[in-house]
Amino acid sequence: MKETPKLNLKKSEALFEEAKDLIPGGVLGARRPADFIMGEYPIFLESGKGCRLIDVDGNEYVDYLCGYGPIILGYREEEVDDAVMQQVKEKGFCFTLTQRYQNELAGKLNDIIPSAERSIFLKTGSDGTTAAIRIARAHTNRVKVMRCGYHGWHDWCVEMKGGIPAKFYEDVYEFHYNDLDQIEDLMKAHGDQTAAIIMTPFGHPLHQKMETPKPGFLEGARRLADHYGAILVFDEVRTCFRLRMGGAQELYGVTPDLTVLGKGMANGYAISVVTGKKDVMMTAASKLFISSTFFPNSDGYVAALKTIEVLERDNVLDSIWKNGDYLLQGIQKALDKYPNAGAELSGVAPMFFVTFTQGNPETKRDRRTDFYTQMIRKGFFFTPHHHAYICYRHTKEDLDKTLQAMDESFGYVSEKYKE
Ligand SMILES: Cc1ncc(COP(=O)(O)O)c(C=O)c1O
Repeated sequence: MKETPKLNLKKSEALFEEAKDLIPGGVLGARRPADFIMGEYPIFLESGKGCRLIDVDGNEYVDYLCGYGPIILGYREEEVDDAVMQQVKEKGFCFTLTQRYQNELAGKLNDIIPSAERSIFLKTGSDGTTAAIRIARAHTNRVKVMRCGYHGWHDWCVEMKGGIPAKFYEDVYEFHYNDLDQIEDLMKAHGDQTAAIIMTPFGHPLHQKMETPKPGFLEGARRLADHYGAILVFDEVRTCFRLRMGGAQELYGVTPDLTVLGKGMANGYAISVVTGKKDVMMTAASKLFISSTFFPNSDGYVAALKTIEVLERDNVLDSIWKNGDYLLQGIQKALDKYPNAGAELSGVAPMFFVTFTQGNPETKRDRRTDFYTQMIRKGFFFTPHHHAYICYRHTKEDLDKTLQAMDESFGYVSEKYKE
C-alpha cells in the first residue's frame, strides 16, 4: 500500500491565516477548506489554463471541478477572453442603458432551448432561480413552491437557515428527485395554492450520488404542474450547455414553462438567464421589478455569445460526451477491479461522481477521505463533496493519467480497508 506524499501547501495556509483576520471565516461558502479535506487541498489558486490549475505553492492539478461548473471550454479560453477584452477596451461594458447584445443572445436562446420564447438576463444562478419563483408567483397569484435540488443561497431555498425569518421559506416544500408519488401527495395537499414546481431535471443532490430521471418522472411532474395550474421550472444552471445545448429538457424530451440557465453558458463570465414561455415570462414586464446595476453589463453577454458559437462550431458537447464516456468506462473498470474500495460511480459523461456507499457512516467517510486525499496529492482536483465535471480541454492523455491515478487510489483504499 503506497501512500502518496502530502502536498506542500505552506503559502495557501499562510494566506488563509492572514485571511481569517480580514474575511469572516477566511474564505466564503463552498470555498472553505472544510468543504474539501482539511490540510490536504490548496486554499488559494494562482492560475489556470485549459483543464489545469496551479495553486499559490506551485502545485499543478488536472481539474475536474471547472470552477464549480462554469468552465465548459477551459480556463483562459482565448477566443472567449479576446471577445470580452475587445468589448471592454473598444466599446465598454457598463452603461446606464442596455447594449444590443441582449437581443442577439435572447434570439440565440430561442433557437437552442426548447422552452425559450422570452428571456431576462441576470448575473448569478441564485438571481435566476429567485426571479423564476417570483415570476411564477406573480403569474399564478399563488405563493407555495415545491422544490428539489440546490437552487442557490437566497432566503427561500438555502439549506442553512441562519438569519432567515421562517416566513420566507415556510411556503416552500421539498421533495426528493425521482419520487413522483411525493410530488403527487404534495400537490394533492397544496396544488391549488402552488405557484411553481422547481427542480433540477437531472438529479444532482448535494453530496449524494447523481440520478438520471426514472421513466415517467419528468413527464409526471409536467402532468401534475398542468393539472394543478402550477408553473414547471427546470433549474438547468448546471445542465444547460453541458448535457445538451438545449439542456436536460432536450435530452429527456420534457419541456418546462420556465428554465434557469447560468454556469456553462459563458465559460466563467457572470451571466444567468430566466427563459420560458411567452405568456408566463411577460409577467416579468408587467407586474415585477427585476433590475440590478450590473445585470446589463455586456461582458457576460459577449462571453456567452462567443462560448455558444464555439460550442456549436466545434461540436464541443459531442467531444465532452465521448471523452466522458471513455473516462467513466475506465473508472467503472477500476471499481470492478477493487470492489473492496466500497465506491460507486454515478452520473453521465459530462458530470459524474464517485461516492462511497459501502459500510457504516464512519467507514464510508474514511474511505472517501482516503481516496480523495490520494487523488489531490497525485495532482487531480476532485472533491469528496461535489460531483466532477469535464471540460472541452481535457485531453485523452489527461484522462489516461486520471485513470491511472484512480486505479492506484482505489487500490490504496481497497488494501487499507481489507477485512
Ligand atoms: C442547480 C443550481 N441552481 C442554482 C445555483 C446557484 O447559482 P449561483 O451559485 O451562480 O448563484 C447553483 C449553483 O451551484 C446550482 O448548481
